Amino acid sequence: MRFSDGFLSEIRDRVPISAVVGQRVTWDRKKTNAPRGDFWACCPFHGEKSPSFHCEDRKGRYHCFGCGVSGDHFRFLTDLDGLSFPEAVERIAEMAGVPMPARDAQEERRERERASLHDVMELATTFFEDRLQTSDGARARAYLRDRGLTQTTQQQFRLGFAPDSRNALKEFLASKGIEKAQMEACGLTVFEDVPVSYDRFRDRIMFPIPDSRGRIIAFGGRAMSAEVSAKYLNSPETELFHKGNVLYNFARARKALQKDGTVIAVEGYMDVIALAQAGFENVVAPLGTALTESQLGLLWRMSGEPVLCFDGDKAGLKAAYRAADLALPLVAPGHTTRFALLPEGKDPDDLVKAEGPEAFRTVLNAARPLSELIWMRETSGGVFDTPERRAELEKTLRELTSRIKDESVRYHYQQEMRERVLNFFGSQRGRQQGQGGGGKGSYNKGSFNKGGGERGQWNKGGAGAAAGRLAVSDSLARSAMVKRAGGIMPLREAALVVTLVNHPSLIDENFEHVERLDLSHGELKQLHSVLIDAMAHGEANTREAVVAAIERASCAEMWERAVTLARRARQWTAFEDAAIEDARDAFAQTLHLHRSARTLHKELKQAEVALATDPTDENYRHLVEVQAQFHDVQATEALIEGFGVSSGRSGRN
Ligand code: UTP
Ligand code: MN
Repeated sequence: MRFSDGFLSEIRDRVPISAVVGQRVTWDRKKTNAPRGDFWACCPFHGEKSPSFHCEDRKGRYHCFGCGVSGDHFRFLTDLDGLSFPEAVERIAEMAGVPMPARDAQEERRERERASLHDVMELATTFFEDRLQTSDGARARAYLRDRGLTQTTQQQFRLGFAPDSRNALKEFLASKGIEKAQMEACGLTVFEDVPVSYDRFRDRIMFPIPDSRGRIIAFGGRAMSAEVSAKYLNSPETELFHKGNVLYNFARARKALQKDGTVIAVEGYMDVIALAQAGFENVVAPLGTALTESQLGLLWRMSGEPVLCFDGDKAGLKAAYRAADLALPLVAPGHTTRFALLPEGKDPDDLVKAEGPEAFRTVLNAARPLSELIWMRETSGGVFDTPERRAELEKTLRELTSRIKDESVRYHYQQEMRERVLNFFGSQRGRQQGQGGGGKGSYNKGSFNKGGGERGQWNKGGAGAAAGRLAVSDSLARSAMVKRAGGIMPLREAALVVTLVNHPSLIDENFEHVERLDLSHGELKQLHSVLIDAMAHGEANTREAVVAAIERASCAEMWERAVTLARRARQWTAFEDAAIEDARDAFAQTLHLHRSARTLHKELKQAEVALATDPTDENYRHLVEVQAQFHDVQATEALIEGFGVSSGRSGRN
């Protein structure tokens, strides 16, 4: 039913949102300021250990800086508890002590009808469940046993069996007083172009499909023999079921997510069930179609970075690219997707059965960011041996990134793609020089697509194969797959970043320098760009806000590493309890050293190259001079407490 805005805001105003949310979370005592109506907790929508879920009574809203969910009283109840909107309104009205307004008769009738369709679906579900246990269900039971599904799993997913009969279900429902029209409205019978309607599902294993509140709204039916033409038969679109808006196992997965983890989307029902049995309960699947925008929205309601998992064959890769195209325009800060490809010819069900849960875990850990998938598609198998072809690649990438609606994400994608292109072509030229003797014009055709760089490589070759293809790509060094090999974090750079996060007023004060800060380490670079981003969005006013931004960008782990390094090296001025004056002085000094060292380092490289290509006396003297300056800076650095030889560079982190 429709409620007037006046009524909704009246009850909303009477109940502090903290009273609603507080029934489901424990407030963090440190961060919360209850008298001001300012509450913090660990987010109930996604798993986390430090509180980034914020709830403000004054605004009557909540927002999670970790996963991005936000809403009001009603939204909280519909999204977390799965109440319908009217139910949520009723709950709040009750808390507010305000009586519900009289209901609209027509709307009420429709709601009753929908409710009765739910009842019919529930009856059908129990019918199928019961038939699985009877004698004509013997073959179905054997089938499920062969597929390795335990009794418990079968019961959890309410699997059933539709007998091989044109009217078994029809008769059962009729005996319960259900009218023909209702069976048809539920999609349980086929009635078009036939004189007598008959059961839609016959001789099939039945997978009931629940909605977000766990009520059955449709069925998937699997044939048990390979001869049957449609392996899976699904319910048609009905009043209850709009297949593009539904994810199989949504309700259970969301519940599992409250404990921890991110949501995983796979392709089939069987995969969801087999994975649940193997301990992965945070898994959902679309219903036999490619992922839709609405389903992607559901995934993002569950977690900021869902992992989309595809079969490792050609079709799977194609589906992954398609999903990437769907997601790309919609990505936003804290909202993106990752892509996992399975070994060729195996779906998750096959994989866990053959190699155990660990094998699937490995696939998940190798999931690639969206940006990388896009890059891979545009470059793998391509030959970029002419300026025209290289320009074309750039053009395509520009066109793709321009589709991103969020301005700041678009900007970062464009930067990343530029960097990738530079490294890609740069490393290619570098290798040519290194090969020597090849001379100009011997552009090594085909070397870009050596090793294919496609699907199989994802799981097998891993970092090595890709790194070989892209040589010294910085972006690659940043990506998750080679994170551990990203090299030792330089203390000086870590100290700069840690200081800025803990004393964000220094970002403002030194904005020009900070913005141009030239870091060498991939993870610190990433943290740096989060800082700049937070600053640009006015989210760098407090340390908490910056840390929340870091968590939102999924950079919490590298942040921990930087903090640990700074702490071990006793860089106390970098930490929050240092006086701002001390932090400021130390920062200025470190920044100065850093900039000198970086400049000299570059000069040193240039001087080395110059001498190698043109071995004149002049170039030799220049190199020696730069080397001396470089050593001077390092010596100065070593004099300052903490930057000694035994700290960062020895790699104790
Ligand atoms: P798959 O062919 O990958 O099947 O279809 P599966 O999930 O591995 O199932 P098993 O292991 O053979 O039992 C993936 C999904 O595509 C839809 C279903 O939703 C299925 O789960 N599908 C497939 C259909 O809707 N109709 C079909 O005929 C086949
Ligand atoms: Mn399968």
